Amino acid sequence: MKRSHHCNQLAIGDIGTKVRLIGWVHAIRDHGWLFFIDLRDREGVTQLVFNLSNEKLQSVHSLREESVIEVCGIVSPRPSDTVNSKITTGAIEVVVDELIIHNICDALPFPMSDLKIGNVSEDLRLTYRYLDLRRQKSFNRLQIRHQAARTVRNYLDENGFLEIETPYLFKTTPEGAREFLVPSRLNPGCMYALSQSPQQYKQMLMVAGVERYYSLARCFRDEDLRADRQPEFTQIDLEMSFIDREDIYSLVEGMLKNIWKATKNIAIETPFPRISFRNAMNRFGSDKPDTRFAMEIQDFSSLFKSSSFNVFASVIKNGGCVKAFNAKSLAEISQGEMNNLEDIAKTFGAKGLAYIKVEGGQWKSPILKFLSDAERTTLAKELDMAEGDIIFFAADKWERVCTILGRIRLECRDLAIAKGKIILSADQFNFLWVIDFPLMTFDEEQERFVATHHPFTAPVPEDIELLKSEPQTVRGQHYDVVLNGMELGGGSVRIHQPQLQEYVFKEILKIPENVVNNRFGYMLKAFKFGAPPHGGIALGLDRLVALLCGTTSIRDVIAFPKTQRGVDMMAQSPCPVSDKQLRELYIKTTVDRDSKK
Ligand code: AMO
Ligand code: AMP
Repeated sequence: MKRSHHCNQLAIGDIGTKVRLIGWVHAIRDHGWLFFIDLRDREGVTQLVFNLSNEKLQSVHSLREESVIEVCGIVSPRPSDTVNSKITTGAIEVVVDELIIHNICDALPFPMSDLKIGNVSEDLRLTYRYLDLRRQKSFNRLQIRHQAARTVRNYLDENGFLEIETPYLFKTTPEGAREFLVPSRLNPGCMYALSQSPQQYKQMLMVAGVERYYSLARCFRDEDLRADRQPEFTQIDLEMSFIDREDIYSLVEGMLKNIWKATKNIAIETPFPRISFRNAMNRFGSDKPDTRFAMEIQDFSSLFKSSSFNVFASVIKNGGCVKAFNAKSLAEISQGEMNNLEDIAKTFGAKGLAYIKVEGGQWKSPILKFLSDAERTTLAKELDMAEGDIIFFAADKWERVCTILGRIRLECRDLAIAKGKIILSADQFNFLWVIDFPLMTFDEEQERFVATHHPFTAPVPEDIELLKSEPQTVRGQHYDVVLNGMELGGGSVRIHQPQLQEYVFKEILKIPENVVNNRFGYMLKAFKFGAPPHGGIALGLDRLVALLCGTTSIRDVIAFPKTQRGVDMMAQSPCPVSDKQLRELYIKTTVDRDSKK
């Protein structure tokens, strides 16, 4: 059963050749005694012609789309009026003289064409993922993923990295995402945790003298799922010894340059711009700014400090700030869209979303009557307010103001795209580094500091002495690489001194001593045995490939993804297990499992 050619290969030069093709029935056209089939394999499509005066070919009538067949025939020119210049094989057809049917396809659960697939629910597509993946578009995505992974491997190999696997069965650690636990039959009552990332192992590899490690590592996190989050996902994970932040920036820039070249033949510009966390928040209201469009946020705290608009003035008096941005040309948004923006702002803690529209040469706003002439003049000038614009304000604590306006800015981007006011090119890739993150963030709920990145991140050397007195002002040696508003990756230079690491665990993060010893004791010990200075980064491969493929959902670029509810629709996982299995694992469940069967 060997094919002589793939379905994308035959052309005028092959006319007269006897060929053997094998693949799927892509489309059927029945013209009475002439029967046409478009035969498809993963490479392309070839038109087959069956002359039904040939007795041996009668079984062609039993075929349905997506059946698997093998044919033998002669390559012939198509009649000139049926030449299809859109496909490589469009000038020929294969006149079939032998047909072997390998598998007849059942009635399809959904139409397979790219045009119609948009109306099919994602759950149904995922239930029949093997059919969904059979589409050319899906195959192309898998191919791009493969090319990206191969480029990463080659690049890191050329740069002296060793690919090393680390365990998936790890142990529970505080301070990270929620984990998946795996009971240990051999150690009753004890659990492994599936690795959230190879973070601790890769640091141990540095202590082990490996110097340059990488892995395309599967990571497991029991988080609430979104378009850009899966419970298991893949990182391009790497770690290096004897480096500083600049080494990581140039290594990653080189890697991304190679990936874009290999997969899209696009030369991306390096080095990437860098922006401090504080600037990113001030200007874009986000630690992963999308800089493809303007609508930059500006501060008006000094303007409104002694305003007669008390809402603003009092916020500033209490240490907060007032910021605004101009959503260019969006004054025409509907009341429904406006209400939606207000609702979104409220979910981020906004007390209101004051606005000013410029329409018909007039300013329209519920707060207009509170604004002095001087305030109006400054706003108009600073925000470049013109006919058709709308500006949005937030007044609150700094972080909240930034987050609210950052979120509204993205909503306005999407509205502007939908209304044709902004056109983003599919080939625009705005990479940037976000740097100078605070090492710690105060968590109001837990009433303690938590690590902004993770607890192994080293402070910026000149800030170390502030750790005791003003931990909130200490910057971490942490960096994120961002592309078009998506966090692609993050990493840091690590702490390699046992005393400093222990101090961070116990005195800053307030992790109880017994927990530090149980969970991180081995690390603190390892750091006493010749730990080199080291650092690294992990990039989300799924997100990277999604951006390469121009989709926002990482489910599109994962062969077998899970739904928002964490379900594999095709394999029907997770599922209840038997009492015997549970007994072997010393587990009792309080769930009524009959109702879940
Ligand atoms: P971090 O937690 O920032 O860092 O993860 C690195 C990158 O992994 C991707 N990512 C995800 N992708 C899909 N689904 C998820 N649930 C998910 N969570 C994270 C993101 C993110 O930027 N050990 C550190 C790295 C280091 O310090 O070297 C780490 O895991 O693209
Ligand atoms: P009020 O005087 O409370 O009715 O508010 C007047 C306008 O200011 C309304 O449009 C509110 O949505 C808006 N507003 C109130 N508080 C804030 C705030 N903290 N930030 C931004 N806008 C606000």
